[in-house]
Amino acid sequence: MEITTVAVLGGSGFVGRHVCHALAAEGYRVRVATRDREQAKEQLILLPTVDVETVDVHDPAQLPAFARGADAMINLVGVLHDGSGDRSFRAAHVELARKAVAACRESGVPRLLHMSALAADRAGPSAYLRSKGEAEAIVRDSALAWTVFRPSVIFGRDDSFLNLFALALRFSPMMALACPNARFQPVFVEDVAAAFVKSLADRGSHGRSYDLCGPRVYRLRELVEYVGAVTGHRRPVIGLNDALSWCQALALELLPVKLMTRDNYHSMKVDSVCSCAPPFGITPTPLEAVAPSWLGNRTPRARYQEFRAGRSGS
Ligand SMILES: NC(=O)c1ccc[n+]([C@@H]2O[C@H](COP(=O)([O-])OP(=O)(O)OC[C@H]3O[C@@H](n4cnc5c(N)ncnc54)[C@H](OP(=O)(O)O)[C@@H]3O)[C@@H](O)[C@H]2O)c1
Repeated sequence: MEITTVAVLGGSGFVGRHVCHALAAEGYRVRVATRDREQAKEQLILLPTVDVETVDVHDPAQLPAFARGADAMINLVGVLHDGSGDRSFRAAHVELARKAVAACRESGVPRLLHMSALAADRAGPSAYLRSKGEAEAIVRDSALAWTVFRPSVIFGRDDSFLNLFALALRFSPMMALACPNARFQPVFVEDVAAAFVKSLADRGSHGRSYDLCGPRVYRLRELVEYVGAVTGHRRPVIGLNDALSWCQALALELLPVKLMTRDNYHSMKVDSVCSCAPPFGITPTPLEAVAPSWLGNRTPRARYQEFRAGRSGS
């Protein structure tokens, strides 16, 4: 099967933008479905082979119409916090996986790449992991040429993970950290994007699931301390015990902007690590090799140097 055109759901998000860039760099024609075309266009407009369309992916009529003519679909839609309606785990993960499979069948798209998460499991400790596990099962049970990706937490210049810690450390004198011993194996977003693109035309990846992890396992506390060191905002990190971690998650869940929920606390009960070799010959990028390039320039010294460089260049 020759693949030239790819229909992407969730292509405007953090991972999606990198996947679209990587697809465009390989010469694929890319169609991105979004709820907000103007916002998505800002991120993807410079890519000549990428078109952005307003589509309600939950609408069983609109999704097959969007997919028609594509050779493959990539589903990256996901929510970290359970919302209402189309923003619930059930709608955004489980029902959308079902609709994506149905749309592929109806519109004759033979190939489906599906984004899940490491430790996704129908019997997992959190609603997030259970819904991701259910969605995986739907994709695996389809008669399509499917491939599932299960990354640990993903980092990159525009992530909501290391950058969130950087922001919190910048503005607070100390950090009370829930689940300090939770284990992660962060994977670089460009490695994740490369895995999607390399698998597209690789028949050996049909019917397979891939765990995607970086080269090193970290405890959450280590990651926060690392961000503090690189940004120049070293703060005392006070690890909360299990009961206090739960209480903090509850308190944060009640804020209008959700930074953490009790479901996230339950997700962190399982290690987000893997021991398998990285697929497609990708050498996983170490966090320390790239993160300082965007976190490091937050130190006053780096900002001063940046300012001087800007002035001398002007
Ligand atoms: N980031 C990580 O560390 C990580 C780790 C493991 C797995 N994952 C998985 O990777 C995928 C992408 O994550 P991300 O970090 O790139 O997320 P993101 O930045 O929040 O992007 C999510 C994308 O999904 C779309 N979307 C979100 N909710 C939707 C809804 N209710 N209905 C329709 N579309 C919706 C958004 O599109 P529009 O707003 O343009 O419509 C957006 O493009 C998700 O499935 C996530 O679970 C991420």
